[in-house]
Amino acid sequence: MSENMQNMGFGTKAIHAGKEGKNPYGALTAPIYQTSTFEFDSCAQGGNRFAGKEDGMIYTRLGNPSSALLERKLAALENAEAAVVMASGMGAISSVLWSACKAGDHIVADGTLYGCTHALLAHGMTRYGVEVDFIDTSDLAALQAALKPNTSVVYLETPANPNLKITDLAAVSKIAHEYNPAIKVIADNTFATPYSQRPLDLGCDVVVHSMTKYLNGHGDVIAGCACGKADFMGQVRMFGLKDMTGAVLGPFEAFLVTRGLKTMEIRMQRHCENAMKVAAWLSKNPKVEKVYYPGLETHPGHAIAKKQMTAYGAMVSFEIKGGKAAGVALCDHLKLCTLAVSLGDAETLLEHPASMTHSPYSPEELKEAGISEGLIRMSVGLENVEDILADLEQAFAFA
Ligand SMILES: Cc1ncc(COP(=O)(O)O)c(C=O)c1O
Repeated sequence: MSENMQNMGFGTKAIHAGKEGKNPYGALTAPIYQTSTFEFDSCAQGGNRFAGKEDGMIYTRLGNPSSALLERKLAALENAEAAVVMASGMGAISSVLWSACKAGDHIVADGTLYGCTHALLAHGMTRYGVEVDFIDTSDLAALQAALKPNTSVVYLETPANPNLKITDLAAVSKIAHEYNPAIKVIADNTFATPYSQRPLDLGCDVVVHSMTKYLNGHGDVIAGCACGKADFMGQVRMFGLKDMTGAVLGPFEAFLVTRGLKTMEIRMQRHCENAMKVAAWLSKNPKVEKVYYPGLETHPGHAIAKKQMTAYGAMVSFEIKGGKAAGVALCDHLKLCTLAVSLGDAETLLEHPASMTHSPYSPEELKEAGISEGLIRMSVGLENVEDILADLEQAFAFA
């Protein structure tokens, strides 16, 4: 990124960062390099590229100009030295964890995570000799007590999926790094996005994303990325991605995410504005027991959210009176809002975490993580908010 651009706004960076001169034919939009491999001029050149002695493309599993443009843009948005894009959020998370851990290591993870991330940690990494302890990372004393000489990773989400729990990223990074500077603090920034929160600026080492969500923003791609220091991102690319997961993002998907990013700032403004209104409306609804939205002053993490986020995101969860049966009745009567997992799309989506996104948790693990049977998760979309509220109003009549 040029020095000039470093001082520019998020929206400008999302559109312009990562460009390297003019595109072929002066095309405004970068071409999609839909190719698996790249021609070498000579054996010497091919050998030098493999040996890392010469820059240049080799094979799309190791890099592609369409992905590279997106990676430079993401690094600019997250204030990272480098980024690596992958085929899904889970591809990114697993490529990073395989690169950061080996048998005998110990991971401290928050107990409230996206269901498949929890499954990877609880039932996947542990099969290969990595020890995992789940704690509440918003409890800093618990974090301090959980660290061990072989701890290599502290892993968390904030706001967390699905109950929007907030963890103090600066405090967690300080505690972990004072204990051992080599510990990698990894934050999943999918819910907040770099529009409202930049974990690397707060001391974290690695940011991971499901780009399937707000970064792409249009519900038509599965994609992920990791951002961090250049040397570790090199390991993630050349070991985690190349050898361990092979979770390569296709050039067309890279193009779609790059296109989605152009409108990210204005999408996020509307998402956050709508979410605040929906959260306030739910708070006044007599059929709602509890609303979880970090923008509400009643949220236990509000003060920390205010300190580390510039906006509160567009995920709102709530407990409905009458538990699961009432939640099912509500969701089955939606007309405009859609009953679907995922988030960050133009469409407002509702889902039931205990039976859907968080079904990899056992009933005991759900309880431990504070994910109740009556919890409904909502990704507030870009529709006119009056229409979202009118749809909720008519559906609540059945709950
Ligand atoms: C917070 C979070 N992280 C990671 C993922 C996994 O992303 P993907 O579905 O792109 O693999 C999800 C998916 O919902 C998520 O919500």
